[in-house]
Amino acid sequence: MELSRATLERIEQERSRYPNPRGALIEALHLARAETGTLTMEVAAQIAARFDMRPGEVAEVASFYSLLTLPPARAVLQVCTGLPCCLRGARSIVEELEGRLGIRAGTATPDGRFAIAEVECLGSCATAPVMQVNLNSYLENTTAQFAASLCDSPEAALAARRPAPIISCVPQGIDAYLLPPSGERFTTLEAYRRHGGYQAILGAAQMSPAELRKLVEESGLRGRGGAGFVTGRKWAFMPPKDGGPRYLAVNADESEPGTFKDRQILERNPHLLLEGILIAGHGIEADAAYIYVRGEYVDAFASLRGAIAEAYGAGICGPRALGLERRFDVYVQRGAGAYICGEETGMLESMEGKKGQPRKRPPFPALHGLWGRPTTVNNVETLSHLPAIVVRGAGWFRQQGAPNSAGHTLFGVSGQVRRPGVYELPLGIGLRELIYQHAGGPMEGRAVKAVIPGGVSMPVLRADQIEVAMAHDALAGAGTMLGTGGVIVMDDRTCMVRAALVVARFFEHESCGQCTQCREGTGWITKILRRLEAGQGTIADLDTIKDCCSYMDGKCICALADGAAWSARAFLTQFRDEFEQHISWRRCPLDGSFRA
Ligand SMILES: Cc1cc2nc3c(=O)[nH]c(=O)nc-3n(C[C@H](O)[C@H](O)[C@H](O)COP(=O)(O)O)c2cc1C
Ligand code: SF4
Ligand code: FES
Repeated sequence: MELSRATLERIEQERSRYPNPRGALIEALHLARAETGTLTMEVAAQIAARFDMRPGEVAEVASFYSLLTLPPARAVLQVCTGLPCCLRGARSIVEELEGRLGIRAGTATPDGRFAIAEVECLGSCATAPVMQVNLNSYLENTTAQFAASLCDSPEAALAARRPAPIISCVPQGIDAYLLPPSGERFTTLEAYRRHGGYQAILGAAQMSPAELRKLVEESGLRGRGGAGFVTGRKWAFMPPKDGGPRYLAVNADESEPGTFKDRQILERNPHLLLEGILIAGHGIEADAAYIYVRGEYVDAFASLRGAIAEAYGAGICGPRALGLERRFDVYVQRGAGAYICGEETGMLESMEGKKGQPRKRPPFPALHGLWGRPTTVNNVETLSHLPAIVVRGAGWFRQQGAPNSAGHTLFGVSGQVRRPGVYELPLGIGLRELIYQHAGGPMEGRAVKAVIPGGVSMPVLRADQIEVAMAHDALAGAGTMLGTGGVIVMDDRTCMVRAALVVARFFEHESCGQCTQCREGTGWITKILRRLEAGQGTIADLDTIKDCCSYMDGKCICALADGAAWSARAFLTQFRDEFEQHISWRRCPLDGSFRA
C-alpha cells in the first residue's frame, strides 16, 4: 500500500524538526501505521527511502514496539492486564470481549473489524481496569457491561468516551508545589503564570551553573524515576563544555505497573515541568531538552505539546530562552509501547530511532549520551521539584521530607483500596498512614495482606511490615525500596502465587532479550509460577525460581533483570507457606482470589 501524500508530508515535517532526522523515525512509523493499519515491508520500504535506511532495518525497529505491532483491525480493543488492573477485574473484561467477538485476545476478527489485545500497564492504575481503543484517550474504570457496548461496531468503539476522573489529590494541610489544588488544571501559560509560574527560572538564571548545581545537591533532591540517585551529583558528572551540543533527556516513559504519577504532571501542570527543564538546562549547560513520552499517553502528549507551543510563542523556549538569554530548544518524542524504553539508555536508543535496547556501560550518558554527546537523564517528577527548590531554597526543601529523603513526592496508590489515587505528600510519611488515612484502607470487611511499595520491581512487604516510613533508608531497612513510590495494595483474598505470576509475565514480555539470563530467566520464572498456580508444581520448582533469580540479579546489562528477580524472590520468601500449600493441595487454596 502506498502512503498518502498527506502522510508523507507529515513524515517530512517531523524529520525537519530534528537536527538529526533519524530522531523522527518512531513518529514516522506511528504515522504510517495510523494510515495503513499494519506496517508491511512495502510500507517499511517507503519509510526507509526517506530515512536513508534499508527496509529491513526499518522493519526490525518497528518489530520491537508493541504499539507498532498490534493485531491489524479497524478497532483494536486493548485491555490492561497489569497487576493493579487484574486486581480490579481486568480478566472479566477480556473474557467479555472474547465471548462477544468470538476471538481470543491477541487476534483479530476475520473481517478485520475488531482485535483484542492484552496490554501491559497503561499508567492509570488508580482507575483500573483501564482500556484504550487504538490510540484514543483512555477508557477508565471500565466494566464488563461497558466493554460489551464497544463490540456493537468499530465506529462505536472508536467514538467511545468515558469521563476521566481526577485522581490526584493534595491532602488537607499539605503545602503542595507539584500538583495544582485538587480538581484544578494549570494547563495554560496564563494559569501557570497566575500561580507564580516562570519566576524560578529568572532566579536560577541569576546563579552560575556551578552555583545552581550546588544548590540542587544541597537540597538533597533524589531522582524520582526509581533509582533515587542524588540529582545534583548526577549533574556534576557532565564533562566541561567542548563547543559541541549537550542535552537533557527527560524521561516521561512511565510504564511500570503501579506507577502513574508523571502523567498527572504532564496532564495537569505541564508548564511546571517545562520550567524545571529550563532550570536543569541552565544547571548542566545543555543546548536542548528531548522529552520522551510513552506512546499510550495521548492526552499527556497533547497537553505537553500545547504547553511547548505556548512557551515558544511567548519566547520562553527558542532563540532567547527565558532567563538563559541563549538558544534552548525543547523537543517531544513519542514512544511506541515498550517498558524498557524507560531505562535511561534504552530511552536514548529509542530517541535515536532505534530498538530500545539498553546500552552497556561505561561509557555513561554524561559522557556519551544522546547522539554520542554529553547527556543528563532525569525523570519528569524530579525536574518538577526544581522551581520550588530555587524559589524556597535548599534548606526549606530538606525540611519537607525525611533525613536522606528530602521533599514531597507523588505517591500513587492502587489495587484493593477504597480511594486509589496520586497523593502529594512529604517523603517519610508512614506506609500505614498512606494506605489507611489517605487511600481509605481496604474494602469493607477485608484486611491488607501484602503491599508493593514502589512499582512492581520492588520487593513485596507483608501486612505486618507496613509500620514503615516511605523513605529510602527506612524501606531499605525493611528489605525493600521506594522505587517510583507506586504503592500496590493486595487484600486477604489475593493469591500471592498469582500476583507473582502477573508480575513475572510483565517482565517476561518486556525483557528486551539481549542478556541470556534475563531473556530465559523471566520466561522460566513465569512458566514455573503458572505451573504452581495450576497445582502442578513441586518443591524443586521453588529452588529453581531462586536459582533463576540469582543468575539474573546484578548480572545483566540493565536493572530490568534485577527488578524481575527481586519481585519473584520476595513473593516466594515472604509467602513461602502459600507457595507450598499450592503444591501440597495440588490447587490454589484461595478460591476468592482475583483472576490473572
Ligand atoms: C527497566 C527500567 C525501566 C525504567 N523506567 C523508567 C521510567 O519509565 N521513567 C523514569 O523516569 N525512569 C525509569 N527508569 C529509571 C531510569 O533508568 C533513570 O534512572 C531515570 O530516568 C533517571 O532519572 P532520575 O534520576 O531523575 O530519577 C527505569 C529503569 C529501568 C531499569
Ligand atoms: S537485563 Fe533484560 S531488559 Fe535489560 S538489557 Fe538485558 S535482556 Fe534487556
Ligand atoms: S493501568 Fe493497568 S496496571 Fe497500570
